[in-house]
Amino acid sequence: MTRVFSGVKPSGALHLGNYLGAFRQWVADQQEFDCYFCVVDLHSLTVEQDPSQLRQATIETAIGFLSAGIEPDQCTLFVQSHVHEHPELAWLVECTVSFGELSRMTQFKDKAKAKGGESVRAGLFTYPALMAADILLYDTDRVPVGDDQRQHLEITRDVAIRFNNRYGETFVVPEATVPRLAARVMDLQHPENKMSKSDESPQGTIDMTDTPEQIVQKVRRAVTDTDGEVRYDPELKPGLANLLELMAAVTGRSVDEVASGYEQYGPLKADLAEALVEALRPVRERYARYAADPGEIAALLGQGAEKAASVASKTLARAKDAMGLLPRG
Ligand code: TYM
Repeated sequence: MTRVFSGVKPSGALHLGNYLGAFRQWVADQQEFDCYFCVVDLHSLTVEQDPSQLRQATIETAIGFLSAGIEPDQCTLFVQSHVHEHPELAWLVECTVSFGELSRMTQFKDKAKAKGGESVRAGLFTYPALMAADILLYDTDRVPVGDDQRQHLEITRDVAIRFNNRYGETFVVPEATVPRLAARVMDLQHPENKMSKSDESPQGTIDMTDTPEQIVQKVRRAVTDTDGEVRYDPELKPGLANLLELMAAVTGRSVDEVASGYEQYGPLKADLAEALVEALRPVRERYARYAADPGEIAALLGQGAEKAASVASKTLARAKDAMGLLPRG
């Protein structure tokens, strides 16, 4: 059966970009494939975290998966640090990937620049090795992600192919699956930036659990442009293009079809707000239900980690053996 793996960092409230770029694909995939979904808490440590907030964000992110519609009895949901094979395989991957390859990662370059050059943590630099390990441990065929993760998937494929060539067939070579629409949801206030979990642009970010009033207000205030013509042009009209793409993604229509239905921005914004409120309504309702029972979440995550470890331990053993590490007697 086709194996699927994907993950989300617990580093703040989940937003519409996560929902449309990632979760929605996962919810569809869980019906058809053998899915492993992971709260990748070790990845969060690449930047400063308050320990008690990280613990809370890990639980909140797990609740986010379930709120989005992930069914724990249809797939395996777990926390990365509960399965020690992840950092262990990451070390083996680090010893097969080059400094040059990691230096070329655009996400590292951007974040290092933003966070002050040389003082960034070494983990931020080696992060793609851990991400490759996450994926390769599960003999993953498909990795449903948003557009910003494409480069990390490329390096994962390179790692797997190189490892197999050097040490013999060990890893499945995975493929990224990126949604056709809303693969890169942009910030509503700064449409040149992607919507992100940071607290920096609360008005530009629609959280998965925002109330209908908050959604309506944020869409109404979304930045567009002054020429007033409704047409899809991401270069010249990035704010409007984002709204059109969002509308297409939530209604299942094409961007051109959506654009041809409007002559003014106001009615488009009103319809989009309504469509988003409806799309996120079940998410909000499930959130309220799961958040009321954190004990249930902890039990689910415990079972998930056990199942994940039973797969991951076999792959790790295969990789260690292939590289010549002596098995414990
Ligand atoms: P993270 O936590 O930043 O994002 C989780 C998922 O949400 C997608 N996403 C978006 N999609 C569309 N528009 C946006 N504005 C937007 N923002 C986020 C991301 O593409 C991602 O699919 N490195 C990963 C986590 C990770 C992982 C993995 C993913 C660790 N190991 C293994 C897949 C497989 C990350 O930081 O995602």
